[in-house]
Amino acid sequence: MPQRVKDKVAIVTGAGSIGPGWGNGKAAAVLYAREGARVFAVDCNPAAAEETCGIIHEEGGECLAHEADVTSSEAVKSLVDRCLSEFGRVDILHNNVGIPEVGGPEEIDEDTWDRHFAVNVKSMYLTSRYCLPHMVEQGGGAIVNISSIGSIRYFGYPCVSYGASKGAVNQLTQQIAVQYADRGVRANCVLPGLIHTPLVEHYVRSGYGGDAEEMLQTRREMVPMKRMGDAWDVAHASLFLASDEARYITGAQLVVDGGITCKVT
Ligand SMILES: NC(=O)c1ccc[n+]([C@@H]2O[C@H](COP(=O)([O-])OP(=O)(O)OC[C@H]3O[C@@H](n4cnc5c(N)ncnc54)[C@H](O)[C@@H]3O)[C@@H](O)[C@H]2O)c1
Repeated sequence: MPQRVKDKVAIVTGAGSIGPGWGNGKAAAVLYAREGARVFAVDCNPAAAEETCGIIHEEGGECLAHEADVTSSEAVKSLVDRCLSEFGRVDILHNNVGIPEVGGPEEIDEDTWDRHFAVNVKSMYLTSRYCLPHMVEQGGGAIVNISSIGSIRYFGYPCVSYGASKGAVNQLTQQIAVQYADRGVRANCVLPGLIHTPLVEHYVRSGYGGDAEEMLQTRREMVPMKRMGDAWDVAHASLFLASDEARYITGAQLVVDGGITCKVT
């Protein structure tokens, strides 16, 4: 089996999944482990982080589960401290945590707006803030931030706080990429398109209110490939950016969307 991130230590935030099956963070954590990394799996739901760790252990990999809400500065500082004390280093910071919400400026209330910016962007600023000094001291590292095509396009329905917060993720990533480029730290984004994950299943089956199968079919039809992606598509793109194969790539926005952002309508 190829070992594309052999001997590296990867922090993955949102390493669990909100439902059965493969979420983006869970697949990324398992894939990093399959490719030789020791994984520090962070989630605010300890059972979800433990489940991912269990899969990694069953496959013979190394993983530690850690409970933390990544919107809290104190919690993020202590998760980085624990990762360093258990594993001795941090080479990959994979920021997966992010929450969607449908609505425009009149529908999204201020609390939702603030929550989106805390969960979707501030969390990534905090993890970067505490990991970067160690990456610099080690002589390098790779940050992979999970953004969305919603950061650069209108989805077809309003998602104002989601899109704006994901746009901020892109710029946060580029700021770090430029500032740390000559110190061996790379920072890149993955922009997933319409991905069929437990998060989407949960939304179409309980939050959306319309016909779930019709909604899933509409999502498939929107994509030039006529299918949604899955969590492994996002995980493989992330693995590439985190690995040394991407050593000359920083500040990139890697779109993983079956061609949807190439379309006019
Ligand atoms: N599914 C899609 O179509 C799609 C499209 C574009 C982008 N994305 C992005 O993918 C990411 C989510 O992917 P997923 O499938 O892993 O989602 P998910 O909802 O399954 O989330 C993974 C984990 O994050 C944890 N989490 C949530 N808030 C947290 C917090 N504050 N602190 C710590 N853990 C927290 C949850 O407990 C969950 O276990 C998001 O950044 C999302 O914007 C998804």
